[in-house]
Amino acid sequence: TADVAPPMKGDVLVHAEGPNQGQVVKASELSDKLVRAYPKGRDSKGTEVIRDKDPTNILAVYKFAPGTLKEPTKLDATIDAQIVAYGDRCTHAGCNVGDDPKTSGHMFCPCHSGQYDATQGCRVLGGPPPAPLPQLPIKQEGDQLVVTGFFLSRPYGFNKEEDWEEYI
Ligand code: FES
Repeated sequence: TADVAPPMKGDVLVHAEGPNQGQVVKASELSDKLVRAYPKGRDSKGTEVIRDKDPTNILAVYKFAPGTLKEPTKLDATIDAQIVAYGDRCTHAGCNVGDDPKTSGHMFCPCHSGQYDATQGCRVLGGPPPAPLPQLPIKQEGDQLVVTGFFLSRPYGFNKEEDWEEYI
């Protein structure tokens, strides 16, 4: 059903938690602190639905200062090479990854201390994760963030080849 469907082209990102839960994530409010988001789209009847019933759909969104985001981040899938979205489930065992309080732009998984660099395509810096967090391509419309395609690499939870191939 639509609430478990993965992020789709045209979905708008909304806050997954906190006082603005369910509200649109505004490009103008983002910073180098993680904002967790879900995609909001429409079901087959055209009714708006937040795709929050599959844990693989949770996203991490950042805005970095110009020049901070570097390859292997796919810069053409970011907004102005400053705003970037990743799947927020650790590629090791699926926990939600948070900010590393010690270093801006680094992420830390509380389950087994996996570390990622959100400024460099969420490459793995340490710990057991076998792969980067998957980047989700986005664009800006007004002050909203809009999904332009599927994850650029396989998210945790898409373990079966057929799951993945349906979307690439
Ligand atoms: Fe993240 Fe194990 S689930 S390091």
